[in-house]
Amino acid sequence: MTIEEKTGKTLAELAVSDAQGVESLFAEVRAAMEVGRQNLVARGASTEKEREQMCKALRDRWLARKNGLLAQIDEYWLKPAARELKPAVGRQFNALRQAAAWLEVPALLDDVPLKRDATVEVKGVSLEASVGQVTASSIRDLHDLTLPGYRRPVGSLHPVTRMQREIEEVFLNLGYGIEEGPEIESVYYNFDALNIPETHPSRDDWDTLYIDSKTLLRTHTSPVQIRAMKKYGAPLYIIIPGKCYRHDNPDSSHSPMFHQIEGLAIDKDITFADLKGTLDFFAKKLFGEKIRTRFQPSFFPFTEPSGEVAINCTLCDGQGCPVCKESGWVEVMGCGMVHPEVLRNGGVDPAKYSGWAFGLGVDRYALMKYGINDIQLLFQSDVRFLEQF
Ligand code: DAH
Repeated sequence: MTIEEKTGKTLAELAVSDAQGVESLFAEVRAAMEVGRQNLVARGASTEKEREQMCKALRDRWLARKNGLLAQIDEYWLKPAARELKPAVGRQFNALRQAAAWLEVPALLDDVPLKRDATVEVKGVSLEASVGQVTASSIRDLHDLTLPGYRRPVGSLHPVTRMQREIEEVFLNLGYGIEEGPEIESVYYNFDALNIPETHPSRDDWDTLYIDSKTLLRTHTSPVQIRAMKKYGAPLYIIIPGKCYRHDNPDSSHSPMFHQIEGLAIDKDITFADLKGTLDFFAKKLFGEKIRTRFQPSFFPFTEPSGEVAINCTLCDGQGCPVCKESGWVEVMGCGMVHPEVLRNGGVDPAKYSGWAFGLGVDRYALMKYGINDIQLLFQSDVRFLEQF
């Protein structure tokens, strides 16, 4: 059926009964309109008089008050449209009317060139066929395949992803593997297996999002230590990146969902010197050779002894500023020698093997590295922010 024929029937007669049908019908009309215009532009006219006549013919075909295609559409599609279809038809019709502004004679005259050989047929379809009647197949045939395609904008890696990959790179080069574990975790792996018994005060420290009494959203990546030991045994050198969840109110330095990277090295004769050497090397790789590290005692139930690593504040170079709270140092991770009970829970014999571990917050590293002052920015998906990385 030609567009002429279609615009002489109602939507009901055309069996168009939903918004999608309306949309594709109008898409067909738009295509036909564009083909008519493109053909005339491609063909050109041999004299000004001919140009004037042809532009007027095309304009009238679409825009004539009486019997123009748009008038027909108004008459046969819009006016008698079923109540529920009317908004969709109205919207499409308005868009079509706007697009039809290109068919006004002055606009056409600007676009149609004068050519001496302008009577030649365009791609095998005579001008009459395109200014006159256009069928669906001739629309397909007439699309100009030499026009450039649509470009889709390419995004960039999220700053947290970039930070994570950079940290992974350092450890991959040291021969560590990457291991992952579930975000929905059992209370046993998240707490008990890590030597955090129900009565232990540190269990209160993790305000936890429970799913039921035995299941939770993991509060740290440490449970994967146990899973990995059970899976691979010793020796074992892995890092564990992943999402963690805590019942924290969002503010500039807290988010209920955040990212950690855990590290675990288990072998014969592993000592605190291995921990210190590796983490000092890591800090220098990540933040620059001039970085100094500080190790201070701390407490975690799953390590003994436990420590906290700080680096000298890069902003004030250790002089003291608001970022380092005037201390000259910024804490960057927790660490320690894996507790014998934890080794045992992972099926590793503490009499034969020892190990060290660490845990760090990737998001905070990204804030430091990229000079971002609000962790919330990382999770708002605002392209204006993200495209800066
Ligand atoms: N799991 C600790 C937390 O979420 C971080 C941590 C500290 C991990 C010391 C470790 C470690 O493996 O040895 O705060």
